Order: sequence, then C-alpha cells, then structure tokens
Amino acid sequence: MRKRILTGITTTGTPHIGNYIGAIKPALELVSPDNDSYFFLADYHALIKQTNPAEIEASVKNVALAWLSSGLDPEQSYFYRQSDIPEVHELTWLLNCSAAKGLLNRAHAYKAIVAENTQSGSDEDKAINMGLFSYPVLMAADILIFSATHVPVGPDQAQHMEMTRDIAGKFNHTYSNLLTLPEAIIQSEISVPGNDGRKMSKSYNNIIPFLCSEKALQKSISKIVTNSLAPGESKDYKACTLFQLYSFFANAEEINNMKQSYKDGIGWGDVKKDLFTAINNEILPIREKYIQFNDQPDLLNDLFSDGARKVRPHAQELVGRLREAVGILKIV
Ligand code: TRP
Repeated sequence: MRKRILTGITTTGTPHIGNYIGAIKPALELVSPDNDSYFFLADYHALIKQTNPAEIEASVKNVALAWLSSGLDPEQSYFYRQSDIPEVHELTWLLNCSAAKGLLNRAHAYKAIVAENTQSGSDEDKAINMGLFSYPVLMAADILIFSATHVPVGPDQAQHMEMTRDIAGKFNHTYSNLLTLPEAIIQSEISVPGNDGRKMSKSYNNIIPFLCSEKALQKSISKIVTNSLAPGESKDYKACTLFQLYSFFANAEEINNMKQSYKDGIGWGDVKKDLFTAINNEILPIREKYIQFNDQPDLLNDLFSDGARKVRPHAQELVGRLREAVGILKIV
C-alpha cells in the first residue's frame, strides 16, 4: 500500500540552522514518488505559545518560506495551513469525546509544567490553558483527518503519537473502523550546538540564523565560543562546537582532513573560515530562493489556497462519514 506521510510544523519564530539540520532536511529527504507526503503549518498550535498576532503572522510566513527555499516542492508534496482545513476542528471535538482525561493528564509537556508549578509552590494549574492541555488531541486530528499512515517526528513527539493511536483506537471501537492508526517514524535526535555549545535554541539566544545575508552568517560564526588555545597548539576535535557544526555540512573526506588539522594545531580563526565556507556553500542556493520568494507577495497565499483545495475534499468526506457514524447527520 502507498504510504501517506504527514508531518506538522509549528509556526513559531524563524527557523535557524538547528531546525534546518534537525527537522527540515530529514523530513524533505522522505519525499519520494512512491509515497504521498503532506506537510502542513500547525498555526493553530502556535497560539498556545504565542499571543502576539503580528508575530504569529510573521512566523507563518518565515517558516513557510524556509521550507520552500530548502526544497519543499508543492508539486510533489501537499503543503497547506492547518487553519485552512476547518474539518480538523470538527474532528478535534469528536476525538475529545473519545480521549480519556487521564490519558492527557500523563502528557510529558503538561506534566512538566505542573511539576514546575508544584515545585515553586504555585497553583498546579498556573499558566496552563486548555489549548496546552488538549494539544495532543488537536495533533491527533491533524493526523487522522488525512488518514496518514506514517508520521515522521522527533523523539519528543513519540508520546503524542501513542496518544493519537490510543484515541483513534477508542473511537474506532466505539463506532466503526473509520480512523487509520498511524505509525510514528521517530527520527533520531540530532543535537546541533549553538554558538555557546548548548543545544541551538531560540530560548538560549545562541542560534545561527539561516535565512540571512552572508555577512550576518559570518558574524554569527565569529561569535562561536572556543577555548584559548593558540594557533600551532594541538586541539581536540571531540566536544568542540566548531567541529560538530562543521561535520553537519562537510563530506567524510573534509571531516577527516579537519580532524588532522586540529591535531596539527589549526587556529580557531581558520576553523571558523572553513566552517563559514561549508555552511555557506549549502545555504547559498537556499538563500537565493528565499530572496526570490520573498519578493513575490502573492506566492504564499496562492500556495496555501492551492494546497487546501487539493487536500480538503478528503477531510470533508471523512468528517461526513464520522458524523454519520456518531449519528449527527447533515441536513439534506
Ligand atoms: N507537535 C509537533 C511538534 O511540535 C507539531 C505538530 C502538530 C505535528 N501537529 C502535528 C507533527 C501532526 C506531526 C503530525 O513538533
């Protein structure tokens, strides 16, 4: 059977090198003529974390352009916004009525905040809205609405995938077997270090931008923290941020040469130069596309309406059958 691969991208912030290596690239590598691939922007999910409308709007644009510039081809994959498929919310309600509250109580993300609240002596529900609590149900609806068979996600989403199967199984058991139980493809954790050596993350303020000018990239690389060993002194490539970043962008031979250069005492300035060249070579065509796309004001609107037009009939048809199954018929 043809695989139907689906994954969602939460629209918060602007993607950085860490997102490119850890999420965008591996997801695009799964696209093939033998499968159907669905990539969508989880913009309603973003509201849980972000309440500034201008930032929400900007994020949707930046995230979409980052994926398109990195090679997402809307002729080969379905690409759409969650918010353009209102049936997702109809399904969310149907699933809410099958989802045990106890199941959602066990969600790691929710439990972590409760634990923090308890530890700090606050009310355990402090700063927890129902969107956060029922996040996994909306995610389940995203997946089930298109009868996805395979869902590539990071290890942090494994529990949400279990919940999706659990909730869908319960619905199928209560009514009829209309929902497809998806399999998770858990992508191995790729930890890309930021300029301070910790995991690259907006919240640590240590990101290396990706859709930026050459100059900005250079500046960002120059800020990467190193030890104070001088040129000529032998250096250890293991646990070196510069080397780790370099190894994501260089080929096997270049990586080996770099290991030797560390032994031979290459200076940090030269490593940074080589790192810049390696990253820039990969980013160059992406940057060019980004600039070109960014100049086309209607591009995203056209793509989004096209994407929704292609996929929505499946969602409408499924919701129609689900309504029939639960006994809420459409008036004809
Ligand atoms: N929760 C996912 C994340 O943060 C994003 C997401 C939303 C998603 N809906 C989805 C991923 C459906 C896969 C399938 O990474």
